[in-house]
Amino acid sequence: MKTIKYGMLGFGTVGSGFYACLLERKDMIEKRFGVSLELSAIHVRRVEALPTHLQSYHVGQVDEMLEREDIAIIFECINGVEPALTYVKKALAHGKCVISANKAAIAHGWEELSQAIAFEKELLRFEASVGGGIQVVETLKRLSVADEIIEIQGILNGTTNYILTKMSGGKSYSEALDDAQRLGYAEADPYADVAGVDAVNKLAILSNIAFNTHIRPDTIPRASIESVADVHAFTKVIATSVRDERGICASIAVKTLDHSHPLARIEGVTNAVLIKTKNIGDLVFSGPGAGSLATGTSMVMDLYHWLESHKKGE
Ligand SMILES: NC(=O)c1ccc[n+]([C@@H]2O[C@H](COP(=O)([O-])OP(=O)(O)OC[C@H]3O[C@@H](n4cnc5c(N)ncnc54)[C@H](OP(=O)(O)O)[C@@H]3O)[C@@H](O)[C@H]2O)c1
Repeated sequence: MKTIKYGMLGFGTVGSGFYACLLERKDMIEKRFGVSLELSAIHVRRVEALPTHLQSYHVGQVDEMLEREDIAIIFECINGVEPALTYVKKALAHGKCVISANKAAIAHGWEELSQAIAFEKELLRFEASVGGGIQVVETLKRLSVADEIIEIQGILNGTTNYILTKMSGGKSYSEALDDAQRLGYAEADPYADVAGVDAVNKLAILSNIAFNTHIRPDTIPRASIESVADVHAFTKVIATSVRDERGICASIAVKTLDHSHPLARIEGVTNAVLIKTKNIGDLVFSGPGAGSLATGTSMVMDLYHWLESHKKGE
C-alpha cells in the first residue's frame, strides 16, 4: 500500500477541524484509494498551542516541510496573504499538492498562481476558502465549463449576515456585534468582516472561476455595515459579479431584497450563493459558511478530489 505523507501549515480553528474530520474518514478514504495517509509535519508559530500528542510533528522552519521530497500534500490553514502565499508558491514549486482554506492568499495570489498553472493541473485546491462547507468552489469550476455563468450573487460573510439579522429584530449595531463576538462569530477586531474585506476576497475567487479572469480583490468596491441604517428583514450584504458588455462588474453592497429573492430568507451565520447560468437557470447553494468541522470537511473533499485525479494520473 502506497503511503501518502502530508504536512499542515496552521492548526487553529480550521486546521484542527480538518485533522479531526480526516481522522473520522481516514479508514474509509484509505480503503477507497488503497493508500495510507500519514501526518509528517506541522508548522505553526507557537508549538505550545498544539495538542501535546502532536507537538513532536512540529517543524520550527517551514522549509523543513516545504522542501521535503517525501511530503506530497500541504494543508494550508494560516491567516492572511503573507507569508501564506509565499509558502503556497514554494510548495507548488516543489511539486506538492496544496489544499488551502486561506481566501486572502488565494484571492491576492490568483494571477501568479494561475500563471504557474496550478489551477489547470489542479494541484492547488481551495474549497474551504469560500462558503465554508457549502461546496460551491468545485461545483462552480465544473459549471463554468459545462454552462455559461451569467451572474453570481452571494451572502458570503456569516458575521455580517448574523449582525443584520439581529438588527432587523431590533438590536443596535453594537448590541448585535457584541452578541456575535460573545458567540464566537466575530473576531475581537471585526474590521475584515464588517467592512467587507473578507467578502471581496471570496467574491474575487468566485468571479475568477466563473468568468475565467483574474480580478484583484482590492479593485472590488465594498460596503461596510458599521453605519447602515434602516435594516429590514431582507437587508443583506450582497456580493454580486456579473459579466456585461463592459466586462466583469463585481461589488459588495448592502441591499434590501424583495421578499421573493432566493437569498432574502438566508439568516444568521448561514452563507448562500445564487448562480445564474444560461442553460440550467438559477441554482442556490446554502449552508454553514464557517466553523471548524464545516471547513475541515471541505478540505477533506479537496483531498478526495486530489486522490481521484492522482489515481487516474498514475
Ligand atoms: N475560521 C473559519 O471558520 C474559516 C472558514 C473558512 C476559511 N478560513 C480561513 O482559514 C485560515 C485559518 O483560519 P482559522 O480560523 O483556523 O485561524 P486561527 O484559528 O487563527 O488559526 C490559525 C493557525 O495558523 C497559524 N499561523 C498563523 N500565522 C502563521 C504564520 N505566519 N506562520 C505559521 N503559522 C501561522 C496559527 O498558529 P500560531 O499563532 O501558533 O502561529 C494557528 O495555528 C484563514 O486563512 C481563514 O481566513 C477560516
